[in-house]
Amino acid sequence: MNPIEQQLREAVGKFKQDQVFRFWDELDGGGRERLLGDLSQVDFSLMNRLVDTWVKNTPKAEPFERIEPVPVIPVVDPARPDAQEALAVGEQALRDGRVGLFLVAGGQGTRLGFDGPKGSYPIGGLTGKTLFQYHAEKIINLQRHYDCVLPWYIMVSQANGPATQSFFETNEYFGLNSDDVYFITQHMVPCVDDQGKFMLEDRDHLAMNPNGHGGCIQAMVEHKVLDDARNRGIDTLCYFQVDNWAVKVADPYFIGYHLQANAEMSSKNHRKHKPREAVGVHCLCDGVYHVIEYSELDIYPQLLETDANGNVVYYAGNPAIHILSVDFVQRVYDNFDQFPWHLAHKKIPFIDEGGQRVAPESPNGYKFETFVFDALRMATHEPVALEIEPPGEYTPTKQFEGDNSVVAARESMTNFWAKWLDASGSSVPRDANGKATIAIEISPLFARTCDEFVAKSAGKTWPVGSDLIVSEDGSVGG
Ligand code: UTP
Repeated sequence: MNPIEQQLREAVGKFKQDQVFRFWDELDGGGRERLLGDLSQVDFSLMNRLVDTWVKNTPKAEPFERIEPVPVIPVVDPARPDAQEALAVGEQALRDGRVGLFLVAGGQGTRLGFDGPKGSYPIGGLTGKTLFQYHAEKIINLQRHYDCVLPWYIMVSQANGPATQSFFETNEYFGLNSDDVYFITQHMVPCVDDQGKFMLEDRDHLAMNPNGHGGCIQAMVEHKVLDDARNRGIDTLCYFQVDNWAVKVADPYFIGYHLQANAEMSSKNHRKHKPREAVGVHCLCDGVYHVIEYSELDIYPQLLETDANGNVVYYAGNPAIHILSVDFVQRVYDNFDQFPWHLAHKKIPFIDEGGQRVAPESPNGYKFETFVFDALRMATHEPVALEIEPPGEYTPTKQFEGDNSVVAARESMTNFWAKWLDASGSSVPRDANGKATIAIEISPLFARTCDEFVAKSAGKTWPVGSDLIVSEDGSVGG
């Protein structure tokens, strides 16, 4: 027995996970190597702690004495002096090359059910442009506008990493310099059954899931993102998620507020209109900044309170848009053993004792994940919370139809861009509810903001009588 196998067998035995070797005698050399490869990624004592805390016992809610709403900077109004000051600071940081971009794209995208990395989803209903392409076009626009380089660090998982990289290669990095795009791979963690036992997805393969978007903290340090950022003079990382088509990548206002406050981590938030909206809530728990996941709202019922007018008191919903300072990421990494974990009861395909594949119809096991917003509680300088309005900033695409869907995102972006067309003097036709009756897509290479669109539209009348695509050079059509 080679020393690695011996070491892993000891760990497996110590933590009573021997079932993972059930099919060992049937495996050929390659299969045995694959299984040992999976096991060598496992932090056995961490898994033991998680199973003990979450599966064998019912975790206790953190006993907060006092929960308060977070102080929020209201939605940016460019006429406001504080907004103008923040803009100046943020734009200067962009021009000075202090800003990098961090995208998390390692999720499994199970709800969307799309065969491929979520970023390669053709989100543009008219153009078929993908989420990755939209993000890239915004970055190119920003680089041109601020005469800077915005390195783009992209977190992928073992499952979607190779497909993501080849998608970028096939598309020639969407016009970006490939030296400024980095892929880093997050850790995986084993899924466990209701008894806390690791599950097999195949005879030679554990059922595993990526360790959540909080895994970006480890991935950034271990894959030398921080070193690269520091070498480039970058101290500020703008974090966003792949399925938010509308995101304002590197929003200079947000960067400005963050830097002015000397914050270590900042967040955008959006107003919840219903207590049970499916978003996490930003709040202060015993004076410390937290985001409470929507699945945990019942543990803290005051977070569901409404005032006399029916408005949600703890209204700051979490759209998962943050800024983190490079030094802060290092500090969180150094204390990652204190980083909280969350678990989700899910349907996890597995092979049973007889080696038969099972696709369960109801949840049969647990996935453990970390969430990036839990880093907020580790910030020593007060985090900035900036309110946004979702149109033009937040269109999460979790499924095809319904809430947080592709269909909703397309409608939201069309109505957002319709306002740009109106502002340029070409009034978009609307229905009785004020919704645009045509579909619209505007390339971020042509315009990233309404002001830019209006300036570039001078003297033009846009053909808003039917669906409209505005391309990079301002021409109309595909
Ligand atoms: P979600 O938690 O919404 O997951 O991720 P998802 O993969 O998009 O979809 P479901 O839940 O499987 O249907 C929010 C963001 O965090 C990233 C995702 O790629 C997405 O950008 N993420 C999530 C990671 O990068 N790694 C993870 O382990 C989990």
